[in-house]
Amino acid sequence: MNDGGTTVRIAPSILAADFARLGDEIAKCEAGGADVIHIDVMDGQFVPNLTFGAKVIETVRRLTDLPLDCHLMVMQPERYFDDFAAAGATGITIHAEVSPHLHRQLTRIRELGCRPGVALNPSTPLSAIEEVVRELDLLLIMTVNPGFGGQEFIPYSLDKIRRARLLLEEARSRAALEVDGGISRETIGECWRAGADTFVAGVAIFSSRDPRAEIGALREQCAVSV
Ligand code: DX5
Ligand code: ZN
Repeated sequence: MNDGGTTVRIAPSILAADFARLGDEIAKCEAGGADVIHIDVMDGQFVPNLTFGAKVIETVRRLTDLPLDCHLMVMQPERYFDDFAAAGATGITIHAEVSPHLHRQLTRIRELGCRPGVALNPSTPLSAIEEVVRELDLLLIMTVNPGFGGQEFIPYSLDKIRRARLLLEEARSRAALEVDGGISRETIGECWRAGADTFVAGVAIFSSRDPRAEIGALREQCAVSV
């Protein structure tokens, strides 16, 4: 449970941004107080969709000083570590489902000067990261099946978030506990109260009439006590 001891971090996912106006979209996020920019890398293999790679990371790096969290929904993610680190990634998060050598992979990400993270699909148990929990700067609990923006939040994720918070506490880990997928004004508060502290939001922010205000509105939901 979050009892006010941690800080809410809002991470707009540029997957839902208007790429013709990417500079403006990112400037709005900054003005609205976003903490991190979330960049979804998809390979059309691990997930059905294709998105972008190092070139876009490099472009976003030139547009903002905010940390860039790169969420790799790709097979063999280690093939991209060097390029993404050179492009300016702050964090590199890989999926446990396609990473049989998590210890080696997380160590390599750290060696490159980036923050290592692991993401778990809704059906992947927390036990997949139990042994490497101390290596993590970020644990990402997917609250939809990865691949697309604008999907509906899976309600049973809340129990997993609670258990993930306990796991981090038991390991005395200071890793961020992030949720991604279907995060909106309706779902963010429950995730925060379950123990998440970092919130990816795509459609909720970029489809809003006022993305700047929406970031504040999302943050406010975490201050509401129930
Ligand atoms: C989904 C991606 C998400 C996506 C979230 O596979 O990992 O980061 O952009 O989009 P929303 O917030 O629209 O559900
Ligand atoms: Zn993502």
